[in-house]
Amino acid sequence: MCGIIGYTGSENVKEILLDALELLEYRGYDSAGIAVRSRGMQQVSVYKCAGRVSDLREVCAQAGSGTERVPGSPGQNDGAFARTAGCGIGHTRWATHGGVSDANAHPHQVGAVTLVHNGIIENYRELIADYDLEGDLVSDTDTEVAAALLNRFYEGDPHEAIRKTVAKLRGTFALVVMFADQGDVIYTTRNVSPVVATLCDQGAMLASDLTALCRFTNRYFVVPEYHILELRSDAVRLTDFDGNEVEPEYLTADWELNSAGKNGYPFYMEKEIMEQPQAIADTIEERVLGGLPDFSADGVPDELFTDCERICIIACGTARHAGLVAQALVKSILHMHIEVEMASEFMYSDPVIDQKTLVLAVSQSGETIDTLEAVKYARRRGAKCLSVINVRGSSIARESDYVLYTNAGPEIAVASTKAYTTQLAVFYLIVARMALLRGVFTTEETQSYIRELQRTPDAIGEVLKKKRDIHVVAGKLLGAKDLFMVGRGLDYSILLEGSLKLKEVSYIHSEAYASGELKHGPIALITQDTPVVASVTQEKLMSKELSNIKEVRSRGADVVIFIKESIAGSLEEEYELIKLPDMRDEFMVMPASAALQLLAYYVSSDKGFDVDKPRNLAKVVTVE
Ligand code: M6R
Repeated sequence: MCGIIGYTGSENVKEILLDALELLEYRGYDSAGIAVRSRGMQQVSVYKCAGRVSDLREVCAQAGSGTERVPGSPGQNDGAFARTAGCGIGHTRWATHGGVSDANAHPHQVGAVTLVHNGIIENYRELIADYDLEGDLVSDTDTEVAAALLNRFYEGDPHEAIRKTVAKLRGTFALVVMFADQGDVIYTTRNVSPVVATLCDQGAMLASDLTALCRFTNRYFVVPEYHILELRSDAVRLTDFDGNEVEPEYLTADWELNSAGKNGYPFYMEKEIMEQPQAIADTIEERVLGGLPDFSADGVPDELFTDCERICIIACGTARHAGLVAQALVKSILHMHIEVEMASEFMYSDPVIDQKTLVLAVSQSGETIDTLEAVKYARRRGAKCLSVINVRGSSIARESDYVLYTNAGPEIAVASTKAYTTQLAVFYLIVARMALLRGVFTTEETQSYIRELQRTPDAIGEVLKKKRDIHVVAGKLLGAKDLFMVGRGLDYSILLEGSLKLKEVSYIHSEAYASGELKHGPIALITQDTPVVASVTQEKLMSKELSNIKEVRSRGADVVIFIKESIAGSLEEEYELIKLPDMRDEFMVMPASAALQLLAYYVSSDKGFDVDKPRNLAKVVTVE
């Protein structure tokens, strides 16, 4: 959570920082701030406010229109200043300690130190007491305590002060620091919370994630934990805490330089929904050889799939919902023992994990701290971990034994869409590979399964063409306060995700329920004011699902059914239907999910909400 940027170089510092913060805003959008210094100037100026980056732009513009002008931005008359070279740091906040206010926004400045922080300093109270820092503080944040401590230890040697400070901190942190007397050098260090950095034509930069860098370059490195990185306009210097120089390990992102833009769509969520056919094809095709699933290019050995006796999937939110679909596939096809664990509960649930357990961790960002900690725990217990991740080089990827990357490209909207369907695509491949290796499928059966998987981009494409029909259905839900989503088996799994999507972007209270379970309690809540969304995509469950749908209809609920086209029959005369292209039942998750994503999207956008940045949320959850 929280977006961080640092830049030193010859370009317009203020604009680089503000543009980057806009791209990082999905990590937190309670408040924003920058600190800038023009080359050769002593003073570091801080501009910050509660609100969005657009509000911060206003603050900077107003500062620039008076006698004071934001350093690092071109002036009207003064030649030297207009060169704009210099350095700066910036931050978008997701509030943890201290409410949403101007004072609590980052950067925090104490004495010679100006600092932004991502993470949580758990022992901030003890630090205030132990070092008598109270008098230095003007905010309620844990971050300012870190700034005050750093300032206390600073006697002209940034490395020494950082080392001494870090030795006293408990918690997770990425700290990015400017020292008043250190010219245009930026320093960073971290524990758990990620920082990536690069040296490119425009100068040196760092950020909490790649999204902010990939406008400039696709070469970057991950700053290792407990190291210090110094950024200068023409050099980067990485050292460990003993002062030894360390060569940065550059990686190449395969994201296009402009792929983090909206491409003409009003919201990232719509753009990302529309990108799914391509993203899924990109995820599947490089892993199909001779019609069979193949992970040799990913370096994943077959023994991982043959030696295990049970599977444990660890994930949060949408990624966990992808795991629930995988669970159904593993049970029905592989007949293996499998559990899907909420990463945040995992360590406290006495999980049954050993050397015979294959752990599959799923995460779009690769930074979700609950999932990261659960992976570390499982590996300590002897399990092998294969992760399904979108962001290359992310923390969970680095902690795992093996990684299968989804090739979804950057996902910016807080509501996860293309990450989910590409995670599903990887799970279909894993299940097929395991079925082949464990003798459950013949070669021909595996090829036929993979051919069906390869049809999913087109099936989703068909759904996307129906976006107007789905928009019409969305229009009927705008007034709902509560809503139920009902289905059985895989339909229930699909709806858990559909329901999460709807509630997080539209703020309608939506509950997914296994439809057979409704009559054991929740049906008491069904009235004519409680619309019901049903999914009917599994032929063998259809008659029972329809009985349950009749039960809610009889209680006055308006029902819309997302249904596999070939089984819709004459239901259209009785119900509002969205027909989904035909696939084998186990693959119907793909078209159905895309349809439910569109439903959530249109409800939110028609209500006039900021679809990409739902209240209280952030894209990357790096606090426990
Ligand atoms: O980056 P991750 O996949 O680990 O994130 C997990 C969840 O935080 C994420 O899926 C969340 O539930 C989404 N906002 C849902 O749309």
